[in-house]
Formats: sequence, structure tokens, C-alpha cells
Amino acid sequence: MTTNPKLQAWVNEMAALCKPDQVHWCDGSREEYDRLCALMVKAGTFIPLNAAKRPHSFLCRSDPSDVARTEDRTFICSTSRDEAGPTNNWRDSAEMRAALKALYDGCMRGRTMYVIPFSMGPLGSAIAHIGVEISDSPYVACNMRIMTRMGKDVLAVLGDGDFVPCIHSVGAPLKPGEKDVPWPCNKDNKYIVHFPDDKSIWSFGSGYGGNALLGKKCFALRIASIMAREQGWMAEHMLILGLTSPAGKKIYVAAAFPSACGKTNLAMMNPSLPGWKLECVGDDIAWMKFGSDGRLYAINPEMGFFGVAPGTSMQSNPNALLSLQKDCIFTNVAMTPDGDVWWEGMTETEPPKLTDWQGQEWTPGCGRKASHPNARFTAPITQCPVIDANWDNPRGVPISAILFGGRRPSTIPLVFEAFNWRHGTFLGSLQSSETTAAQAGAVGVVRRDPMAMLPFCGYHMGDYLAHWLSMEEKTSSDKLPKIFYVNWFRKSAQGKWLWPGFGENSRVLKWICERVEGTGQIEETPIGKVPAKGALDTRGLEIATQDLDELLRVSKEDWRKELPGIREHYVRFGSRLPPALALELAELERKLKA
Ligand code: OXD
Ligand code: MN
Repeated sequence: MTTNPKLQAWVNEMAALCKPDQVHWCDGSREEYDRLCALMVKAGTFIPLNAAKRPHSFLCRSDPSDVARTEDRTFICSTSRDEAGPTNNWRDSAEMRAALKALYDGCMRGRTMYVIPFSMGPLGSAIAHIGVEISDSPYVACNMRIMTRMGKDVLAVLGDGDFVPCIHSVGAPLKPGEKDVPWPCNKDNKYIVHFPDDKSIWSFGSGYGGNALLGKKCFALRIASIMAREQGWMAEHMLILGLTSPAGKKIYVAAAFPSACGKTNLAMMNPSLPGWKLECVGDDIAWMKFGSDGRLYAINPEMGFFGVAPGTSMQSNPNALLSLQKDCIFTNVAMTPDGDVWWEGMTETEPPKLTDWQGQEWTPGCGRKASHPNARFTAPITQCPVIDANWDNPRGVPISAILFGGRRPSTIPLVFEAFNWRHGTFLGSLQSSETTAAQAGAVGVVRRDPMAMLPFCGYHMGDYLAHWLSMEEKTSSDKLPKIFYVNWFRKSAQGKWLWPGFGENSRVLKWICERVEGTGQIEETPIGKVPAKGALDTRGLEIATQDLDELLRVSKEDWRKELPGIREHYVRFGSRLPPALALELAELERKLKA
């Protein structure tokens, strides 16, 4: 419990509105977690996995209609449509509040209302912020205990201070005596709503992932991006990793990639280069504030991984798989006959028999996927074999380099460095990925996703880019991270991947590290600085010289073909496009003409 007047009043107000049968304040203890898991086993929501194979772990199957973040039901209710910008769904806040109040009235009948205090970031860190989620889902309470610092210690740190109120309901009240279903949700009404004016989050109807674990995308990105703009810091969709050279020099790197570009793989990769060490601070979100030395210090606001399971294997990401050995929650994966989990890509050969993510019998070649493509694991970050020693440091880690990147079969070299912060912001604003056969819709379409924040920026994307540019006014340019752009996915004219990726990406990180130290040789091109011939360490790597040349090639002709798409992308931001970026574009056009 708490003596915080705002928290008390808000919990009372929400209890009066939602009318739960009872209110439970989560203390965050193991005992509480075990009790809620047992409750869900009894309700059929959780299936305990084979304790000999995966101790204290559970499989959960969602309703087939509730399997992913729902961007079309995600709203930013700023004072005006223009404040939310062209990349967000906007609704009038008074109208939305009235609609939500009606939906929430009595929505928790027959259920328990969990009050979940959580800290995004190390307890008491000057970079961290506190939220409280109210939810009628024990699945949410358990996931929040893995994903955040959660429970009574947070209330002690909060004291009478401010917090972000996050209200969540599955939107499925129970009539007296009505039997619950394993995965309650509301098929007809889903709302994930953000109110910038009072920094509150209201989520209704979904129990899944970013729709329901409100600390993650809703708070740590959408609301935090608004707070960061007001307060002069950065809330970014970035992994954070530590990289140590054989000489013992360590730097920290943050990286923003759109989905399906291997962010979690890079965050905990085993370097192939002898003597190099990579350690993981976070795989999804970075909050960065200036330290007294003028450098940007980053924390991972989360405490767990909510990762996509399919494709994760001992080959693609051994450290992710090794993080999943116990104390995990698996959602929408398949189950083996001996009570363990399986998903597509986990093993080279498919098991002969499985129970699929919907509980149906599954055999290879039956024409269905055994796990849902967005099946997830929730795993404590402390179980990652390459966890960084500073993962919980309240001061954060100083960021030396920021990486942008995407999946582009052509045009974009393996790696290049921005000329300066402003040019780096320009590169981030153009960040793009090409759609693959794995996605619905046309293949090979370039999708622009500035800083990988397209679905996560809580205000006008043009203002967000201006905020990025304004970092230059807050410190001296030598203190800001250097900015790089990477593309592991370039292909030859014959359609073959040119770069092996995974652990070999450490070769690119080595050059980045050398650039940070002021050594690494470069060649200047119209788009930035690429590694000079021989500057990329390829010792021990079997790669043809012409393939390496192609990987680093900057073709003016190809880049000229990019320009119309970039102009079209910028037109969306209208008068809110920062003039500095229009100038960068003009400068690029000039260089490509020459
Ligand atoms: C995620 C996402 O789940 O970016 O991390 O969608
Ligand atoms: Mn993400």
C-alpha cells in the first residue's frame, strides 16, 4: 500500500469505475508470482512445462484474435491532430475520455484488480521513471514482474512523487457464476490510448504484449518520448551493448533497427573475432540523459526480454536460447509431447509430433505453423549469459556510437559513418527496410521508419526529428555519440547474401570502435564515410574481394534513384520538417549530381 495521495486517489477512482471484485496491491515477491502462476494453471491460462526440462516455466495460449500489437487501434490524443502528426492515429481527448469511461464502467466485474507499481530503469536512478499499471489480468502482473522492477520497493522509491498511470483491462467482465475462459479479451473493442496532457495510458480489450504490458511500448516509448522532448533527453527504440577490444578498451553502442532486422541477435551476439567481447545491456529500448560530463548515458528501462521466439536457435542467437532455461513464460509457441516448447527455426528438423499454439495436434507438412509467427518468450534479463556488468547501474552507460540500419538488398553499404550529428539525424530519418516474403503485401517495397520509431513516437515525427537535432545544442559535438548506418542484408546481382552476418558483424563493430577511438581508416563518399580498402578486419573470413567491394560500394546512380522516395517521405512532415534536414537533403542531391 501507499500514502501517495495521487496514487491512492487514482486507485480508488479506478476501482469505483471498473468495479472489480477485489483489489490486490502487487508486492513483487516470488511468493506472489508463484501464487498467480498457480491461479492461472487452475484457470487453464497457463500450462506448466516439464519441470525437468524447463523449471518454473509456463506455456500460455492467447485467443487467436489477440496475437499482436494493434497499431490501428493505438491512439495519441494530443490537443490537436497536428500535434500527433501524420504517423499517429489521433482522436479528440475529451471524446476519447468519454468513450473510454463508458467502456471501463464495470469492466472488471468478477475479476481482481491488480495494482502493479513498476520502475522503468534501476530503482532510484535519475534516468529511470516510475509507472503504476492497474490491470485485471494476472498474466500481465506476472509478465510485468519479469519485464520491469515491480512491487513494493517501487512504492518506497516513489514516496509522494509522480508516476505514469497506466490502466489496463481485458474488457471481459464476468457475470455472477459465469465461467472464465483461459484468455479473456474483448474481440469487438480494442483501444490502446495515450493522453499526452496528463501522461496517462488507457488500454482496453487486449491482453497481449505491447497492448497490455504498458511499461514497454506505451510508456517507455510513446509517453516517454513526449517526456524526453519536454525534459531534454531521449527515449529510443534501441538495443544497448557493451563492446570490449582485446586490449581491454570498452565502449557502449546503441542501435535502432526496424523489426525483423536482428536487433535481439545483435544485442547478445557472440563475436567471431578472437579476443573481442560483447555484453548485453538491453535488446529493445534505451533511455538516454546527459551526464555531468556532457555525454549521453543510457539505461535499459526494462528488466526482461519479450522476444519473438520463431527463428531463435542455437545458431541464430545462442544467448537468447540460453536465457530461456527456466523461469520463463512462453506465449503462443508449440508444445512437444514431453512438455517442452518448440517453434519454427528452433531446430534443424521439425519434431514428428507437436501440439500447436492453438492446442491442436500438429505434424510436419500439415500445412499450418506450429507456433504463431509473433509467438513470444518472456525471460528475465539476468538469465542472459552475456549480461553486462552495468546492466543495472543507476548511472547508466556512456554511449559512444549509435547505429541505424535496415534490411536493404541494394544501394546501402554494409557500414558507413555520418559526417556529424546533424547528418546522422538525417540518416536516421531515412531509415528504411524492404519488405520480405515473410510479410503480407508486396515484396521489395521500401518502408521508411525513422529511428525505428514510426509506431512508437508519441508526437509529430517532424518535431521528433527537431528534438534529435537539438541535442547538438546541449553539449559539445565531440561528446555526442558518433552515428553509423549498417546494412547486413546487401545482396549480389544474383540475389545471394554478400555478408554472413551474426557473429561476423563483430568485424563491423570493430571498425566502429576504431572510428570512436579516432583510428579506423575511411573513404569519404557523398553519403558518408565508408571503411577504406583494407580497413575492415576480414582475417579468417572467406569472402571474395569483389563481394567485399560490392558490400562497401556507394553508387551515385543507385542513390539518385533513392531521392524521389526520400522527398516523398519528407513531404509528409509538411512545415514541421526541420529546415536542417531539408538542407541535408539538398546537400546530398548536390553531391550526387557532381
Ligand atoms: C517489439 C516490437 O515487440 O518492436 O519489440 O514490435
Ligand atoms: Mn521493439
